[in-house]
Amino acid sequence: MEVTIIGAGNMGRGIGTRLVAGANTVTIIDHDPDQAAQLAEELDGVGDGHAVAAAADQPLQDEVVILAVWYPASLDAVEEFADRLDGKIVVDISNPVDTETFDGLVTPANSSAAEEVEKKAPSGARVVKAFNTTFAGTLVAGQVGGESLNVFIAGDDESAKDTVSELARSGGLTPVDAGPLKRARQLEQLGFLHMSLQESLGTSYGSGVKVVTP
Ligand SMILES: NC(=O)c1ccc[n+]([C@@H]2O[C@H](COP(=O)([O-])OP(=O)(O)OC[C@H]3O[C@@H](n4cnc5c(N)ncnc54)[C@H](OP(=O)(O)O)[C@@H]3O)[C@@H](O)[C@H]2O)c1
Repeated sequence: MEVTIIGAGNMGRGIGTRLVAGANTVTIIDHDPDQAAQLAEELDGVGDGHAVAAAADQPLQDEVVILAVWYPASLDAVEEFADRLDGKIVVDISNPVDTETFDGLVTPANSSAAEEVEKKAPSGARVVKAFNTTFAGTLVAGQVGGESLNVFIAGDDESAKDTVSELARSGGLTPVDAGPLKRARQLEQLGFLHMSLQESLGTSYGSGVKVVTP
């Protein structure tokens, strides 16, 4: 599959690694074109897929666009890419944590970052929540303690969720259908909880959240 990742930071690297390992072609865009080019070069060697960098003002060619940026910068990105997101599967991965207090989320009550992205996105965009409970380093490694990583996927469009599930599977991850987009509210709280547990676990953002099934 062909996927655009907006954001060449930690998660751009983590998700990009899994996608290229899964023989997908990834296009990286960042505010800093050099950072995008460096990440694309690094990812291009990790598996059977490919990675290239692209400028932010070009048309978006790919069906899936992953917003690997912070909330609320994700809302600015949706404004910036505007109509170019129409018809795309737009993946929100954010944990909208209050970075000043680190004591909660900054999203409006009864909403989520993913739902706020959906409100700003063109009506033809299909927004999916995914990858917010997987830390960047664990995505690069592709496992924690020998276990594959769960990727919880929420969205209102079943075929969009299937596509994101397939992408996760291609990179050796284990997708879990978490229901409609409004489940992003719980996933974002789960992501926040997972972050807040790092001190007591002593895992330096190296742990994973996994549902164990019989
Ligand atoms: N890090 C993790 O382990 C982790 C785990 C789960 C979820 N997440 C979520 O993943 C998201 C990204 O986290 P991260 O750690 O990867 O952040 P990061 O390392 O700061 O990377 C974000 C990158 O995106 C760029 N960017 C922001 N807006 C852009 C735009 N409109 N166009 C092009 N590039 C843009 C930033 O550039 P500037 O610096 O110039 O703005 C930066 O290079 C956050 O929402 C976070 O909550 C992170």
